[in-house]
Amino acid sequence: MPTTVLVIGSEGQIGSELCEALSAKKIEVIRADIKLETAPEKLQYHLEASDKDALRYILEKHKVETVYLMAAMLSATSEKFPEKAWHLNMQSLLNVLDLAKEKYLMKVFWPSSIAVFGPDTPKNNTPQETIINPSTVYGISKRAGELWCSYYHQVHGVDVRSLRYPGIISHKTAPGGGTTDYAVEIFSQANRTKQYNSFIKAPTTTPMIYMSDAIDATLTLMNAPAENISIRTSYNLGGLMISPEKLAKHIKKQLPDFEISYTPDYRQKIADSWPESIDDRIARNDWGYHVSVDLEQMVSIMLANCL
Ligand SMILES: NC(=O)c1ccc[n+]([C@@H]2O[C@H](COP(=O)([O-])OP(=O)(O)OC[C@H]3O[C@@H](n4cnc5c(N)ncnc54)[C@H](O)[C@@H]3O)[C@@H](O)[C@H]2O)c1
Repeated sequence: MPTTVLVIGSEGQIGSELCEALSAKKIEVIRADIKLETAPEKLQYHLEASDKDALRYILEKHKVETVYLMAAMLSATSEKFPEKAWHLNMQSLLNVLDLAKEKYLMKVFWPSSIAVFGPDTPKNNTPQETIINPSTVYGISKRAGELWCSYYHQVHGVDVRSLRYPGIISHKTAPGGGTTDYAVEIFSQANRTKQYNSFIKAPTTTPMIYMSDAIDATLTLMNAPAENISIRTSYNLGGLMISPEKLAKHIKKQLPDFEISYTPDYRQKIADSWPESIDDRIARNDWGYHVSVDLEQMVSIMLANCL
């Protein structure tokens, strides 16, 4: 029987491209989101991710095997609405894990983030296991989520897998309130006005990857044999080391008139608490993680598409 998967948060930056990638593999995809575009040809549900009964209904009706839980409140927005962020980010995960424990589904993907690391974490080549004291609402919810994933795996045998995504750069769907959103906005502003005012300081470096590498990593992890999965909290995932000044330099090669200015806001403090580069050797060794799109290619793709 063909596999059926449910993507919760299907209309977001990552969920939308994940749905495309799954459909391209002839997997039946059910899209669920609190915000839905009217697209009658798609199998979709208007779902509040923390509504367990509604989720159980979809799982039973469609005999869903795998859930990708992509709905969350992201880092910048979470600082403004801490209680809502905690409720959404935790309750949606606990519901999915509980339903997996009760055998309504077989496999779960849940994304964590490099935001689990805090100001006292080693900043360079950050190890998988290290000091993990997140200083943001979002980071706290992601770290707690990682520990719940590990708990449900150890105690209830739930096959839940997770990645600590770095910032993700893409052009198809706008990012949803993260601290690395500047690395997407900069390209459309460069094309439209040849100027960008960055809310992050020039040299602040954080790890990021292009969307196709994030999707490949997600699907490769989910297809790996269970015995290869040695990390049941969440795998470190590194990639390109990006700062506003580095992006500006590469954009200028193609658009020489481009100018960048800097007005850091509350998001600077969030970015300052994150690592600059990540040690992802365990993901490479366990299931073959690799980055295909380098900085030069990523800048060309983004400039060609962010019109
Ligand atoms: N984009 C990144 O750079 C990045 C980096 C690290 C981790 N992540 C994680 O990856 C996941 C997906 O991120 P994204 O960038 O696609 O986020 P996004 O904000 O673009 O998309 C999230 C989607 O979830 C939906 N949603 C929000 N609240 C909901 C609710 N209560 N019920 C149902 N749906 C709801 C939104 O409508 C949206 O379509 C999140 O868990 C995020 O924390 C993202």
